[in-house]
Amino acid sequence: MKSLPTEKQWRAWRASLAKWYRSAQRDLPWRRTRDPYAITVSEVMLQQTQVVTVIPYYERWLKSFPDWNSLAGASEHDVIKAWEGLGYYRRARNLHALAKAIAAAGGKFPHTEEELRGLPGFGPYTAAAVGSIAFGLPLAVLDGNVMRVLTRLLALRDDIARPATRARLQQFADLLLDPNDPASHNQAVMELGATVCLPRQPMCLLCPLNDDCAGRSRPEQFPVKSRVAQEKRTETVAIIRKGKSIWCEQVLEGKPWHGLWRFPDFDPARMTQVAPLAQIKYGITKYSVTMQAVSAKWKSHAPASGRYLTPSEMEQLAFAAPHRKLLRSL
Ligand code: ADE
Repeated sequence: MKSLPTEKQWRAWRASLAKWYRSAQRDLPWRRTRDPYAITVSEVMLQQTQVVTVIPYYERWLKSFPDWNSLAGASEHDVIKAWEGLGYYRRARNLHALAKAIAAAGGKFPHTEEELRGLPGFGPYTAAAVGSIAFGLPLAVLDGNVMRVLTRLLALRDDIARPATRARLQQFADLLLDPNDPASHNQAVMELGATVCLPRQPMCLLCPLNDDCAGRSRPEQFPVKSRVAQEKRTETVAIIRKGKSIWCEQVLEGKPWHGLWRFPDFDPARMTQVAPLAQIKYGITKYSVTMQAVSAKWKSHAPASGRYLTPSEMEQLAFAAPHRKLLRSL
C-alpha cells in the first residue's frame, strides 16, 4: 500500500459502489425484507455458506419457523433437521437458544451494537450485518469477501490471518462505510466480492472501483493469508446391517455433531466378519479426513447405545454430514 486514501477518495468509492449495487444486485429472498428475524436467519446461514446453497434452506426455514416464537417452540430435533447439510450446527443451536431468549423477553429484539454483540452466536460480523441491514446502524461488516475487496483496492500485503491486519481492515471498512445507507453499502461490498472481485479470475472490467484499484494488475496476489497445512486423518466406521436397516448411534453431547446420527466407529474388540465397503473424504476445521467404511457384524449382542434404523428413519433423522455422504455412497 502506498499511501492512505483521502476522504475524497473514500467518498468517490462509496458513490461508485452505491451506483453499481443499485443495478447489479441479485434479487435474493432476504433482500425483500427488513424483518430482523429473517435477516438474522440469513446472515447466520451465510456466515460459512455460499448464497446458492443458503437460498433453499432459508426459504424452507422461514416456512417452518416464520418468527422467533415459532422457532422458540420448535423441538431441537426439528431445528437440527432443518439445518441438516448446512454444517456448523452450533449456528442452528445458537439461533434456537436466541429464539428462546427473545421469546422469554416478550419478543423484544435488541438493536444497539452492544446488545447485538452479546447475543448467543453473534460476533462482530453478525452484529454489524444484522445491525446495519435490519436497523440501519452505521456498522461496517468485515467478512472474507470484504477483506478481499479491500486488500486488492489498497494493494495491502499484510497477512489477513493476523488479528492486527483484521483490525486495520476494519478501520478501512469503517472509512468506506456509507453512513447514509449502511444496509445497502455493506451488501454492496459483499456483493462485489461475491460476484466480481472473485478469488480467482476476478472480473475487473465489470468492477465499479477498477480505475483506482491498486491491486488491479495482480488481483490474485491478494489477500495474503498464511495458512497451516491441513493435517491428514483416517477413521473407520462400521456398517452393520439387519435386513434393510443399519445400526446407528446418536452423537453424545460435547462431541462435534452432537445430537445427530452416525454409524459407529469400527471396533475390532466387539465386531466381526469385517470387509471393506466404501471410502469417502471430507474436511473439518484443520483436518482432511479419509473415512473408510467396512461391513461388519456384532460379535455377540449389540450395545445399548444405538439402534437399527430403517431406510425411512435414516431419511428423516438428521445425520452428521460425512455419514450422510457415506450412506448415499453405499
Ligand atoms: N454475505 C453475507 N451476507 C450477505 C448479504 N446480505 N449480501 C451479500 N452477501 C452476503
